Amino acid sequence: MQLMEEKILTEGKVLPGGILKVGSFLNQQIDTAFLKEMGVEIARLFQDAGVTKVLTIESSGIAIAAAAGMELGVPMVFAKKHKSSNVDGSTYTSVVHSFTHNTDYTIVVSSDYLCKGDVVLLVDDFLANGKALIGLCDLVEQAGAKLAGAAVAIEKGFQGGGDTLRAQGVRVESLAIIESMNDVSIAFRPQN
Ligand code: G4P
Repeated sequence: MQLMEEKILTEGKVLPGGILKVGSFLNQQIDTAFLKEMGVEIARLFQDAGVTKVLTIESSGIAIAAAAGMELGVPMVFAKKHKSSNVDGSTYTSVVHSFTHNTDYTIVVSSDYLCKGDVVLLVDDFLANGKALIGLCDLVEQAGAKLAGAAVAIEKGFQGGGDTLRAQGVRVESLAIIESMNDVSIAFRPQN
């Protein structure tokens, strides 16, 4: 998505440790007009996939997942993050390792909102090592639902998570894929 690359180039800041700061339009302040555009683009990419539900993890994924859900005309569900595992049988849970924060956390979703028969599109703001999406795939599998694929706003291609998922047969669509970045330049992977 050309506009996403332009936003990253004009408003993004590369921080030490390979972190891209996009607080001006995605992670703290949200550019609402652009958010709508992101939703439209994700819906266009997955328009023929028969999606019945959009799934993300709190908190930064919620806005873009809601935008995608609105455009697809389906509900959005977000998994909650808990520090310890929930043993209640009415939930699906998975443990996710965060490379960025070097910590493990448990994601939880009620079985009321993720059901056998659902066709689920995963949506998130960032894709780095892919552990968050793998955790969401696990929830979809536990529910006996079908995975349509994953859509993310910004993929950090150099961390490899997206390509690992693609190699496993998951359809991953990213609005921009960063191949390399430093404090003077950001290079994107060419996309169709
Ligand atoms: P992974 O899921 O792909 O394995 O990545 P990782 O655990 O390393 O990412 C952890 C968190 O950091 C996620 O949010 C993710 O969205 C975010 N993140 C990863 N790389 C970047 C980056 O370069 N820039 C920004 N702005 N965020 C990044 P979170 O901290 O778990 O929580 P939340 O913000 O969604 O609440």
